[in-house]
Amino acid sequence: MVVMKTKLLIFGITGDLSTRKLLPAIHRIVATEGYDDMEVIGVSRREVDVKALLAGALGTDEDAERFSIFSMDLANQEEYARLREYIALGDDEQLLVYLSVPPQAATQIVDFMGAAGLTSPNVKLLFEKPFGVDLTSAEEMIARTARYYDESQLYRIDHYLAKEMAQNIVALRGGNALFSHLWNNTAIEKIEVIAREKIDIEGRAQFYEQTGALRDIVQGHLMQLLALTLMDIPPQFDWDELPARRQEVLAHLRPADPAKARRAQYEGYREEVGNPKSRTETFVSVELTSDDPRWANIPLRLITGKALDKKSTEVRVHFRKIHEAQSNCLVFRIQPDEGVEIELFTKKPGYEREFEKRQLMFSYPEQTVLPDAYEQVLVDAIRSRKSLFTSSSEVVASWRVLQPLLSAWEMDDRTIQMYTKGEATHTICSVE
Ligand code: BG6
Repeated sequence: MVVMKTKLLIFGITGDLSTRKLLPAIHRIVATEGYDDMEVIGVSRREVDVKALLAGALGTDEDAERFSIFSMDLANQEEYARLREYIALGDDEQLLVYLSVPPQAATQIVDFMGAAGLTSPNVKLLFEKPFGVDLTSAEEMIARTARYYDESQLYRIDHYLAKEMAQNIVALRGGNALFSHLWNNTAIEKIEVIAREKIDIEGRAQFYEQTGALRDIVQGHLMQLLALTLMDIPPQFDWDELPARRQEVLAHLRPADPAKARRAQYEGYREEVGNPKSRTETFVSVELTSDDPRWANIPLRLITGKALDKKSTEVRVHFRKIHEAQSNCLVFRIQPDEGVEIELFTKKPGYEREFEKRQLMFSYPEQTVLPDAYEQVLVDAIRSRKSLFTSSSEVVASWRVLQPLLSAWEMDDRTIQMYTKGEATHTICSVE
Protein backbone atom coordinates (compact mmCIF):
# COMPACT_ATOMS: atom_id res chain seq x y z
CA MET A 1 0.00 0.00 0.00
CA VAL A 2 1.39 3.42 -0.96
CA VAL A 3 1.01 5.99 1.80
CA MET A 4 2.01 9.63 1.80
CA LYS A 5 5.02 10.70 3.77
CA THR A 6 3.82 11.28 7.33
CA LYS A 7 4.64 14.12 9.65
CA LEU A 8 3.47 13.24 13.15
CA LEU A 9 2.88 16.18 15.43
CA ILE A 10 2.56 15.25 19.10
CA PHE A 11 1.08 17.60 21.66
CA GLY A 12 2.13 16.32 25.08
CA ILE A 13 5.24 14.44 23.94
CA THR A 14 6.78 14.41 27.44
CA GLY A 15 3.58 13.11 29.08
CA ASP A 16 2.95 9.71 30.58
CA LEU A 17 0.95 8.30 27.65
CA SER A 18 3.55 9.43 25.16
CA THR A 19 6.52 7.92 26.96
CA ARG A 20 4.73 4.70 27.96
CA LYS A 21 2.79 3.96 24.78
CA LEU A 22 3.28 6.35 21.90
CA LEU A 23 7.06 6.56 21.56
CA PRO A 24 7.50 2.76 21.85
CA ALA A 25 4.70 2.29 19.29
CA ILE A 26 6.38 4.70 16.84
CA HIS A 27 9.67 2.89 17.33
CA ARG A 28 8.09 -0.47 16.52
CA ILE A 29 6.01 0.56 13.52
CA VAL A 30 9.01 2.25 11.92
CA ALA A 31 10.94 -1.00 12.40
CA THR A 32 8.16 -3.30 11.16
CA GLU A 33 6.19 -1.23 8.64
CA GLY A 34 9.13 0.65 7.19
CA TYR A 35 7.86 4.21 7.56
CA ASP A 36 11.44 5.37 7.19
CA ASP A 37 10.57 8.85 6.02
CA MET A 38 8.27 9.60 8.97
CA GLU A 39 9.12 12.79 10.84
CA VAL A 40 8.02 13.31 14.43
CA ILE A 41 7.59 16.81 15.82
CA GLY A 42 6.99 17.12 19.54
CA VAL A 43 5.28 20.28 20.72
CA SER A 44 6.17 21.40 24.19
CA ARG A 45 6.14 24.50 26.35
CA ARG A 46 9.68 23.93 27.45
CA GLU A 47 12.90 22.85 25.80
CA VAL A 48 13.17 19.07 25.62
CA ASP A 49 16.29 16.97 25.21
CA VAL A 50 15.06 14.48 22.60
CA LYS A 51 17.87 12.02 23.16
CA ALA A 52 17.19 11.87 26.89
CA LEU A 53 13.44 11.56 26.27
CA LEU A 54 13.91 8.63 23.89
CA ALA A 55 16.50 6.96 26.06
CA GLY A 56 14.07 7.14 28.99
CA ALA A 57 11.13 5.80 26.98
CA LEU A 58 12.86 3.25 24.75
CA GLY A 59 16.18 2.53 26.34
CA THR A 60 17.88 3.82 23.17
CA ASP A 61 18.23 7.17 21.40
CA GLU A 62 19.31 5.70 18.07
CA ASP A 63 16.32 7.08 16.15
CA ALA A 64 16.72 10.63 17.50
CA GLU A 65 17.28 12.32 14.11
CA ARG A 66 13.66 11.55 13.17
CA PHE A 67 12.48 13.73 16.06
CA SER A 68 12.45 17.48 16.60
CA ILE A 69 10.87 19.67 19.25
CA PHE A 70 8.92 22.83 18.60
CA SER A 71 8.68 24.93 21.76
CA MET A 72 5.68 27.20 22.05
CA ASP A 73 3.04 28.49 24.41
CA LEU A 74 0.05 26.29 23.57
CA ALA A 75 -2.40 28.86 24.90
CA ASN A 76 -1.14 31.65 22.62
CA GLN A 77 -3.07 31.66 19.35
CA GLU A 78 -0.45 33.70 17.52
CA GLU A 79 2.19 31.00 17.88
CA TYR A 80 0.20 28.59 15.73
CA ALA A 81 1.14 30.49 12.55
CA ARG A 82 4.78 29.92 13.49
CA LEU A 83 4.02 26.24 14.08
CA ARG A 84 2.40 26.01 10.65
CA GLU A 85 5.50 27.44 9.01
CA TYR A 86 7.71 25.06 10.94
CA ILE A 87 5.70 22.02 9.80
CA ALA A 88 5.75 23.22 6.16
CA LEU A 89 3.31 20.53 5.06
CA GLY A 90 3.65 19.63 1.40
CA ASP A 91 0.71 18.55 -0.79
CA ASP A 92 2.19 15.09 -1.09
CA GLU A 93 2.56 14.71 2.69
CA GLN A 94 0.09 14.05 5.49
CA LEU A 95 0.07 15.53 8.98
CA LEU A 96 -1.11 13.42 11.91
CA VAL A 97 -1.78 15.58 14.94
CA TYR A 98 -1.75 13.49 18.11
CA LEU A 99 -3.48 15.34 20.94
CA SER A 100 -2.09 13.65 24.01
CA VAL A 101 -3.33 16.40 26.33
CA PRO A 102 -6.40 16.86 28.58
CA PRO A 103 -9.69 17.45 26.71
CA GLN A 104 -10.01 21.18 27.42
CA ALA A 105 -6.49 21.78 26.15
CA ALA A 106 -7.20 19.62 23.09
CA THR A 107 -10.31 21.63 22.22
CA GLN A 108 -8.40 24.88 22.43
CA ILE A 109 -5.49 23.56 20.37
CA VAL A 110 -7.95 22.41 17.68
CA ASP A 111 -9.53 25.91 17.60
CA PHE A 112 -6.13 27.57 17.25
CA MET A 113 -4.89 25.15 14.61
CA GLY A 114 -8.11 25.67 12.68
CA ALA A 115 -7.81 29.44 12.88
CA ALA A 116 -4.17 29.20 11.74
CA GLY A 117 -5.31 27.34 8.62
CA LEU A 118 -3.85 23.92 9.46
CA THR A 119 -7.00 22.38 8.08
CA SER A 120 -6.27 20.95 4.63
CA PRO A 121 -7.72 17.46 3.94
CA ASN A 122 -4.26 15.91 4.45
CA VAL A 123 -4.41 16.91 8.15
CA LYS A 124 -5.76 14.26 10.53
CA LEU A 125 -6.51 14.77 14.22
CA LEU A 126 -6.02 11.93 16.69
CA PHE A 127 -7.89 12.45 19.97
CA GLU A 128 -7.51 10.65 23.26
CA LYS A 129 -10.55 10.07 25.45
CA PRO A 130 -12.50 11.36 27.32
CA PHE A 131 -14.65 12.73 24.51
CA GLY A 132 -16.64 15.08 26.71
CA VAL A 133 -17.84 14.38 30.24
CA ASP A 134 -21.54 14.05 29.44
CA LEU A 135 -23.95 14.33 26.52
CA THR A 136 -23.99 18.13 26.37
CA SER A 137 -20.23 18.62 26.61
CA ALA A 138 -19.63 15.93 23.97
CA GLU A 139 -22.05 17.60 21.57
CA GLU A 140 -20.38 20.96 22.16
CA MET A 141 -16.92 19.53 21.57
CA ILE A 142 -18.05 17.87 18.35
CA ALA A 143 -19.69 21.08 17.08
CA ARG A 144 -16.56 23.11 17.88
CA THR A 145 -14.28 20.72 16.02
CA ALA A 146 -16.68 20.62 13.06
CA ARG A 147 -16.14 24.35 12.46
CA TYR A 148 -12.73 23.55 10.98
CA TYR A 149 -12.50 19.81 10.43
CA ASP A 150 -14.54 17.27 8.50
CA GLU A 151 -15.51 13.98 10.21
CA SER A 152 -13.19 12.16 7.78
CA GLN A 153 -10.22 13.97 9.39
CA LEU A 154 -11.07 12.85 12.95
CA TYR A 155 -9.57 9.76 14.56
CA ARG A 156 -10.88 9.28 18.11
CA ILE A 157 -8.89 6.62 19.87
CA ASP A 158 -10.55 4.00 22.04
CA HIS A 159 -7.64 1.66 22.59
CA TYR A 160 -10.00 -1.22 23.47
CA LEU A 161 -11.25 -1.28 19.88
CA ALA A 162 -7.66 -1.82 18.75
CA LYS A 163 -7.02 -4.78 21.03
CA GLU A 164 -6.40 -7.87 18.93
CA MET A 165 -9.18 -9.86 20.61
CA ALA A 166 -11.69 -7.04 20.22
CA GLN A 167 -11.08 -7.16 16.47
CA ASN A 168 -11.26 -10.93 16.71
CA ILE A 169 -14.86 -10.74 17.97
CA VAL A 170 -15.71 -9.47 14.49
CA ALA A 171 -13.53 -12.05 12.73
CA LEU A 172 -14.88 -14.97 14.76
CA ARG A 173 -18.48 -13.93 14.32
CA GLY A 174 -18.15 -13.11 10.62
CA GLY A 175 -15.90 -16.03 9.72
CA ASN A 176 -17.75 -18.88 11.45
CA ALA A 177 -21.27 -19.99 10.55
CA LEU A 178 -21.44 -21.72 13.92
CA PHE A 179 -21.79 -18.37 15.64
CA SER A 180 -23.83 -16.58 12.96
CA HIS A 181 -26.75 -19.01 13.21
CA LEU A 182 -27.08 -18.50 16.93
CA TRP A 183 -26.56 -14.74 17.15
CA ASN A 184 -29.94 -13.53 18.37
CA ASN A 185 -32.17 -13.43 21.43
CA THR A 186 -33.82 -16.73 20.59
CA ALA A 187 -30.57 -18.56 21.26
CA ILE A 188 -28.87 -16.10 23.61
CA GLU A 189 -30.18 -15.42 27.09
CA LYS A 190 -27.87 -12.62 28.21
CA ILE A 191 -24.54 -10.96 27.49
CA GLU A 192 -22.01 -9.64 29.98
CA VAL A 193 -19.03 -7.41 29.23
CA ILE A 194 -16.70 -7.35 32.21
CA ALA A 195 -13.45 -5.43 32.70
CA ARG A 196 -11.85 -6.17 36.02
CA GLU A 197 -8.74 -4.27 37.02
CA LYS A 198 -6.37 -5.21 39.80
CA ILE A 199 -4.74 -1.79 39.89
CA ASP A 200 -6.28 1.06 41.82
CA ILE A 201 -6.33 4.64 40.57
CA GLU A 202 -2.52 4.73 40.81
CA GLY A 203 -2.22 8.30 42.02
CA ARG A 204 -4.44 9.79 39.29
CA ALA A 205 -6.51 11.43 42.06
CA GLN A 206 -7.58 14.60 40.30
CA PHE A 207 -8.45 12.90 37.04
CA TYR A 208 -10.33 10.05 38.68
CA GLU A 209 -12.30 12.19 41.12
CA GLN A 210 -13.81 14.03 38.15
CA THR A 211 -14.22 10.91 36.06
CA GLY A 212 -15.23 7.71 37.85
CA ALA A 213 -15.56 4.23 36.40
CA LEU A 214 -18.66 4.97 34.31
CA ARG A 215 -16.95 7.68 32.28
CA ASP A 216 -13.49 6.13 32.37
CA ILE A 217 -14.30 2.59 31.20
CA VAL A 218 -18.01 2.04 30.51
CA GLN A 219 -18.79 4.98 28.22
CA GLY A 220 -16.08 4.08 25.71
CA HIS A 221 -14.37 0.75 26.22
CA LEU A 222 -17.28 -1.43 27.36
CA MET A 223 -19.94 0.13 25.14
CA GLN A 224 -17.64 -0.48 22.18
CA LEU A 225 -17.05 -4.13 23.10
CA LEU A 226 -20.82 -4.55 23.43
CA ALA A 227 -21.34 -2.92 20.04
CA LEU A 228 -18.82 -5.30 18.40
CA THR A 229 -20.68 -8.21 19.97
CA LEU A 230 -24.17 -7.17 18.86
CA MET A 231 -23.56 -5.46 15.53
CA ASP A 232 -24.82 -6.77 12.25
CA ILE A 233 -22.19 -8.48 10.08
CA PRO A 234 -23.64 -8.70 6.58
CA PRO A 235 -22.24 -10.92 3.81
CA GLN A 236 -19.24 -9.30 2.06
CA PHE A 237 -18.60 -7.35 5.18
CA ASP A 238 -16.25 -4.39 4.84
CA TRP A 239 -14.22 -3.44 7.94
CA ASP A 240 -14.53 0.23 7.05
CA GLU A 241 -18.24 -0.07 7.84
CA LEU A 242 -17.49 -0.89 11.45
CA PRO A 243 -18.14 2.56 12.95
CA ALA A 244 -21.54 2.74 11.22
CA ARG A 245 -22.44 -0.81 12.31
CA ARG A 246 -21.44 -0.11 15.92
CA GLN A 247 -23.38 3.13 15.80
CA GLU A 248 -26.54 1.21 14.79
CA VAL A 249 -26.20 -0.94 17.91
CA LEU A 250 -25.67 2.04 20.21
CA ALA A 251 -28.65 3.87 18.68
CA HIS A 252 -30.89 0.89 19.54
CA LEU A 253 -29.87 0.79 23.21
CA ARG A 254 -32.47 2.20 25.58
CA PRO A 255 -31.41 4.95 27.98
CA ALA A 256 -29.97 3.25 31.08
CA ASP A 257 -32.33 2.72 33.99
CA PRO A 258 -30.70 3.92 37.26
CA ALA A 259 -32.65 1.25 39.15
CA LYS A 260 -30.67 -1.38 37.21
CA ALA A 261 -27.25 0.09 37.92
CA ARG A 262 -24.96 -0.30 40.92
CA ARG A 263 -21.95 1.74 41.92
CA ALA A 264 -19.40 1.16 44.63
CA GLN A 265 -16.08 2.52 45.84
CA TYR A 266 -13.07 0.74 47.26
CA GLU A 267 -12.12 1.39 50.87
CA GLY A 268 -9.22 3.81 51.11
CA TYR A 269 -10.16 5.67 47.94
CA ARG A 270 -11.33 8.78 49.84
CA GLU A 271 -8.05 9.07 51.73
CA GLU A 272 -6.17 8.61 48.45
CA VAL A 273 -7.98 11.47 46.73
CA GLY A 274 -8.18 13.60 49.89
CA ASN A 275 -11.96 13.94 49.75
CA PRO A 276 -13.69 12.33 52.76
CA LYS A 277 -17.11 12.80 51.14
CA SER A 278 -16.27 11.51 47.67
CA ARG A 279 -19.02 9.46 46.01
CA THR A 280 -16.99 8.81 42.85
CA GLU A 281 -17.51 5.19 41.80
CA THR A 282 -14.54 2.89 41.30
CA PHE A 283 -16.89 0.01 40.49
CA VAL A 284 -19.99 0.02 38.34
CA SER A 285 -22.50 -2.47 37.02
CA VAL A 286 -25.13 -1.41 34.48
CA GLU A 287 -27.85 -3.47 32.86
CA LEU A 288 -28.92 -2.23 29.45
CA THR A 289 -31.55 -3.36 26.97
CA SER A 290 -31.97 -2.92 23.24
CA ASP A 291 -35.06 -2.18 21.19
CA ASP A 292 -33.61 -3.96 18.17
CA PRO A 293 -35.95 -6.97 17.67
CA ARG A 294 -32.91 -9.21 17.34
CA TRP A 295 -31.78 -8.32 20.88
CA ALA A 296 -34.99 -7.22 22.59
CA ASN A 297 -35.72 -8.44 26.13
CA ILE A 298 -32.32 -9.81 27.02
CA PRO A 299 -30.09 -8.22 29.66
CA LEU A 300 -26.85 -6.65 28.41
CA ARG A 301 -24.65 -6.14 31.44
CA LEU A 302 -21.54 -4.00 31.62
CA ILE A 303 -19.36 -4.34 34.70
CA THR A 304 -16.03 -2.77 35.63
CA GLY A 305 -14.03 -1.98 38.71
CA LYS A 306 -10.62 -0.99 40.01
CA ALA A 307 -8.71 -2.69 42.85
CA LEU A 308 -10.43 -6.03 42.26
CA ASP A 309 -9.00 -9.52 42.70
CA LYS A 310 -7.61 -9.82 39.18
CA LYS A 311 -7.08 -8.19 35.80
CA SER A 312 -9.42 -9.69 33.24
CA THR A 313 -11.55 -8.34 30.43
CA GLU A 314 -14.05 -10.65 28.79
CA VAL A 315 -17.30 -10.78 26.88
CA ARG A 316 -19.53 -13.60 28.14
CA VAL A 317 -22.34 -14.78 25.87
CA HIS A 318 -24.79 -17.02 27.72
CA PHE A 319 -26.88 -19.38 25.57
CA ARG A 320 -30.34 -20.47 26.60
CA LYS A 321 -31.00 -23.82 28.08
CA ILE A 322 -33.10 -25.90 25.70
CA HIS A 323 -35.06 -29.07 26.57
CA GLU A 324 -32.74 -31.29 28.60
CA ALA A 325 -29.53 -29.72 27.28
CA GLN A 326 -27.59 -27.43 29.57
CA SER A 327 -26.94 -23.79 28.83
CA ASN A 328 -23.51 -22.91 27.44
CA CYS A 329 -21.34 -19.87 27.81
CA LEU A 330 -19.07 -18.53 25.08
CA VAL A 331 -16.30 -16.31 26.41
CA PHE A 332 -14.21 -13.91 24.33
CA ARG A 333 -11.14 -13.39 26.52
CA ILE A 334 -10.00 -9.91 25.55
CA GLN A 335 -7.07 -9.88 27.99
CA PRO A 336 -4.94 -11.30 29.47
CA ASP A 337 -4.63 -14.81 28.03
CA GLU A 338 -6.28 -13.68 24.82
CA GLY A 339 -8.52 -16.34 23.34
CA VAL A 340 -11.94 -17.93 23.19
CA GLU A 341 -13.52 -20.41 25.49
CA ILE A 342 -16.76 -22.42 25.32
CA GLU A 343 -18.18 -24.15 28.33
CA LEU A 344 -19.38 -27.56 27.14
CA PHE A 345 -21.09 -30.42 28.86
CA THR A 346 -19.51 -33.77 28.05
CA LYS A 347 -19.98 -37.29 29.25
CA LYS A 348 -18.12 -37.94 32.42
CA PRO A 349 -15.78 -40.86 31.74
CA GLY A 350 -16.97 -43.98 33.49
CA TYR A 351 -19.83 -46.45 33.64
CA GLU A 352 -22.50 -43.88 34.54
CA ARG A 353 -24.25 -41.69 31.98
CA GLU A 354 -23.39 -38.45 33.70
CA PHE A 355 -22.51 -35.01 32.32
CA GLU A 356 -19.62 -32.85 33.38
CA LYS A 357 -18.65 -29.28 32.49
CA ARG A 358 -15.49 -28.87 30.40
CA GLN A 359 -13.84 -26.01 28.51
CA LEU A 360 -13.16 -25.91 24.81
CA MET A 361 -10.41 -23.33 24.41
CA PHE A 362 -8.54 -21.40 21.81
CA SER A 363 -5.44 -19.43 22.84
CA TYR A 364 -2.70 -18.00 20.66
CA PRO A 365 0.49 -20.09 20.52
CA GLU A 366 2.98 -18.81 23.09
CA GLN A 367 5.36 -17.31 20.54
CA THR A 368 2.62 -15.16 18.92
CA VAL A 369 3.28 -11.46 19.34
CA LEU A 370 0.06 -9.45 19.47
CA PRO A 371 0.66 -5.87 18.36
CA ASP A 372 0.04 -3.25 21.00
CA ALA A 373 -3.20 -1.28 20.57
CA TYR A 374 -1.27 1.98 20.06
CA GLU A 375 0.73 0.49 17.18
CA GLN A 376 -2.54 -0.56 15.56
CA VAL A 377 -4.12 2.87 15.87
CA LEU A 378 -1.06 4.65 14.48
CA VAL A 379 -0.78 2.31 11.50
CA ASP A 380 -4.49 2.62 10.75
CA ALA A 381 -4.48 6.42 11.04
CA ILE A 382 -1.48 6.59 8.69
CA ARG A 383 -3.36 4.38 6.21
CA SER A 384 -6.66 6.32 6.64
CA ARG A 385 -8.50 3.26 7.90
CA LYS A 386 -11.36 4.17 10.23
CA SER A 387 -12.54 0.88 11.73
CA LEU A 388 -10.67 1.25 15.05
CA PHE A 389 -11.84 4.80 15.73
CA THR A 390 -14.99 6.13 17.34
CA SER A 391 -17.14 8.38 15.16
CA SER A 392 -18.89 11.51 16.44
CA SER A 393 -22.27 9.82 16.25
CA GLU A 394 -21.04 6.86 18.30
CA VAL A 395 -19.77 9.22 20.98
CA VAL A 396 -23.12 10.99 21.17
CA ALA A 397 -25.11 7.73 21.11
CA SER A 398 -23.08 6.29 23.96
CA TRP A 399 -23.48 9.37 26.18
CA ARG A 400 -27.20 9.43 25.41
CA VAL A 401 -27.56 5.88 26.80
CA LEU A 402 -25.62 6.63 29.99
CA GLN A 403 -26.80 10.17 30.68
CA PRO A 404 -29.71 9.06 32.96
CA LEU A 405 -27.16 7.43 35.29
CA LEU A 406 -24.94 10.51 35.38
CA SER A 407 -27.94 12.70 36.16
CA ALA A 408 -29.34 10.35 38.81
CA TRP A 409 -25.99 9.88 40.55
CA GLU A 410 -25.31 13.59 40.63
CA MET A 411 -28.54 14.10 42.60
CA ASP A 412 -28.14 11.05 44.81
CA ASP A 413 -26.57 11.94 48.16
CA ARG A 414 -26.94 8.53 49.78
CA THR A 415 -23.76 6.83 50.90
CA ILE A 416 -22.10 4.73 48.27
CA GLN A 417 -21.54 0.98 48.70
CA MET A 418 -17.95 0.18 49.76
CA TYR A 419 -15.79 -2.84 48.95
CA THR A 420 -12.39 -3.98 50.12
CA LYS A 421 -9.43 -3.81 47.80
CA GLY A 422 -8.80 -7.15 46.14
CA GLU A 423 -12.44 -8.24 46.42
CA ALA A 424 -13.95 -10.49 43.73
CA THR A 425 -16.53 -8.96 41.40
CA HIS A 426 -19.29 -11.42 42.36
CA THR A 427 -19.10 -10.40 46.02
CA ILE A 428 -19.82 -6.78 45.07
CA CYS A 429 -22.64 -7.62 42.69
CA SER A 430 -23.81 -10.91 41.22
CA VAL A 431 -21.92 -12.04 38.12
CA GLU A 432 -21.98 -15.47 36.56
C1 BG6 B 1 -7.78 3.65 30.38
C2 BG6 B 1 -8.33 4.12 31.69
O1 BG6 B 1 -8.56 4.13 29.32
O2 BG6 B 1 -7.80 2.22 30.34
C3 BG6 B 1 -7.56 3.52 32.86
O3 BG6 B 1 -8.26 5.54 31.77
C4 BG6 B 1 -7.50 2.01 32.74
O4 BG6 B 1 -8.15 3.88 34.10
C5 BG6 B 1 -7.01 1.61 31.35
O5 BG6 B 1 -6.63 1.51 33.74
C6 BG6 B 1 -7.11 0.11 31.17
O6 BG6 B 1 -6.52 -0.22 29.94
P1 BG6 B 1 -5.92 -1.67 29.70
O7 BG6 B 1 -5.51 -1.66 28.27
O8 BG6 B 1 -4.79 -1.84 30.66
O9 BG6 B 1 -7.03 -2.63 30.00
